[in-house]
Amino acid sequence: MNSGVIKHLLGIKGLQTHQIESIFETADNFSELLKAPVKKTPALRDITIANLFFENSTRTRVSFELAEKRLGADVVNFSSSSSSVKKGETLIDTVNNILSMKVDMIVMRHPAPGACQFLSKHVDSQIINAGDGTHEHPTQALLDAFSIRNHFNGSIAGKKVLIVGDIKHSRVALSNIYCLQLLGAEVMVCGPATLIPKHIEKLGVKVSHNLDEALKWADVANMLRIQLERQDARFFPSLKEYSNLYGLNMERLNRLDKELLIMHPGPINRGVEISSEVADSANSIILQQVENGVAIRMAVLFLLAQRNL
Ligand code: CP
Repeated sequence: MNSGVIKHLLGIKGLQTHQIESIFETADNFSELLKAPVKKTPALRDITIANLFFENSTRTRVSFELAEKRLGADVVNFSSSSSSVKKGETLIDTVNNILSMKVDMIVMRHPAPGACQFLSKHVDSQIINAGDGTHEHPTQALLDAFSIRNHFNGSIAGKKVLIVGDIKHSRVALSNIYCLQLLGAEVMVCGPATLIPKHIEKLGVKVSHNLDEALKWADVANMLRIQLERQDARFFPSLKEYSNLYGLNMERLNRLDKELLIMHPGPINRGVEISSEVADSANSIILQQVENGVAIRMAVLFLLAQRNL
C-alpha cells in the first residue's frame, strides 16, 4: 500500500480507494469535455509523452494517444517491431535514449510481467503500465470499474461481478479483482480448472467451474478472451468444447430471469467466449467501456502529471 502521492501507475495493487475515486471524479469531468464540440484542453501542453508498445494493441494504444492529444500533450509513438530493439538494444538503453530527447512520461505495454516496475527503478521518468504480460492492466480495470459504476448510478459496492474465461493468463482479471474489491464489489471467477490459477481464493474471490450457476449469482459478467498467444500448452480439448461450456450466448442469457450487464475488455473472439448476438445486445456495454477508456486515461495522465494522485 502506498502512503501518499504516487509517481507512476504500475498496477492497481498498491492503490488506495480514495485514489481510484479521485481518478473517477476527474474522468467524470473529462467525459463531459469529450461530449462537447471542442474536445480538447491545454492542460498538458508542456508535457511530452512517449507510447512504447512492445506488444500488439488496438484499444489501449489509440485510447492513450487520443487522451494525450486531447490534453494538449506532445506525443511520440514507438513500436518494437520497427525499432532498434530488433538490433539488440536493451529496454533501459532504449528508454534512456528516448528520454534524452526531453520526454516527460512513458506509457508502456510489454509482454514481460513486471517490465514497468523494473523500468521505473532504472530510468528517470513517470511510467504508466499499459499492460505487462500476465501481470496487470491498471487502466483497463479502472475503465471497467468506471463503466460499472456509471451503469449502476455511481456505486459498485455490493455488486456481484463475474469474470469468465482465461483467468490464468489475464492481466485484466488480476487488475479487475484488485480494483473491484477496493470499491466494495464481490468478485467470482469462472472457467475450466486449467485456466484458473491455483490458490486464487486467497485473493478473496469466489471460484466456479459452472457458468450457468455463476451467471445466476452475478449482476455483471465480464467475458475474457482465451489468451492463446500466452499459452504454452493445451488447456482444453477444443475451442468448440470451451465455447459450449463457457461461452456466453442468448440461450444461456434467456434462462436467467434477470438483467445481466455484459462486458468484455476486447479484442472479442466472436463465437468463442461470447456470441455476436450477446456482444451486440442492449445489455452489452462493450463499446461504452472503450469510450470511457479515453476519459479514464486522460484522468490518469492529468493527475500523475500534476503529481496529484
Ligand atoms: N483491452 C485491451 O487491452 O485491448 P488492446 O490489446 O487492443 O489494447
